[in-house]
Amino acid sequence: MNKDLKPFWEQAYQDENSTAFSSEPNTTLKEFEHLLDRQSNIIDVGCGEGQNAFYLAKQGYCNVDAFDLSEHGIAKLQRRCQKSNIHLNAFTADLTTYQFNKNYDMVMSFGTLHFVAKTDWKTFIRQAKAHTNINGIHIMQIFTDTIPASDDIAPFAIGLAKDGEIQELYADWEILQFKSYVFEDEHPGVPKHLHASNKIVARRIP
Ligand SMILES: C[S@@+](CC[C@H](N)C(=O)[O-])C[C@H]1O[C@@H](n2cnc3c(N)ncnc32)[C@H](O)[C@@H]1O
Repeated sequence: MNKDLKPFWEQAYQDENSTAFSSEPNTTLKEFEHLLDRQSNIIDVGCGEGQNAFYLAKQGYCNVDAFDLSEHGIAKLQRRCQKSNIHLNAFTADLTTYQFNKNYDMVMSFGTLHFVAKTDWKTFIRQAKAHTNINGIHIMQIFTDTIPASDDIAPFAIGLAKDGEIQELYADWEILQFKSYVFEDEHPGVPKHLHASNKIVARRIP
């Protein structure tokens, strides 16, 4: 990510009264949550303010890790957890240098991978796959270059995927769902705009 420019979400992460993206958990997470059990090891990559990790921890999942590059995002999530007496392991880390130290039953990442170079997100996914238990699942959402990056993210979106490209990385897994779509988005201080996105849900097969 360009270190001289600050993305819009950094300001929202510092504002207790505003939500950068959504306060609701991702619908795909809710759709596939039934594949987990309460002991499952789960990690949210580029969790931001952590609405997805927070949701799972609140549901009683007791092994939830979540990391983000943003210290403000992680601090906000930690404050929220403390206030609600919710336990999860939130920490700052960079996915381009992240070293897995355990295996997971679910690795999820929403709207983050395209903010690192393509070689880096591909390397990350390969490492995440190698640290996923048999029958474990990945839910990965990445923006594509089907339409140009909107102004709010253009300086940071250095790794937009080609449509369908992420599927190639899961050729040896069972694809439970793949979606290619364009959606309208709006954030505090940013006018409505479009993103092209791929979302994949894949399961490691024995
Ligand atoms: C659009 S936000 C999505 C946040 C969250 N996943 C959500 O769905 O609300 C993208 C997030 O990716 C994080 N990010 C960008 N580059 C990163 C990196 N190299 N390692 C970890 N997180 C990164 C940003 O700090 C930001 O919180």
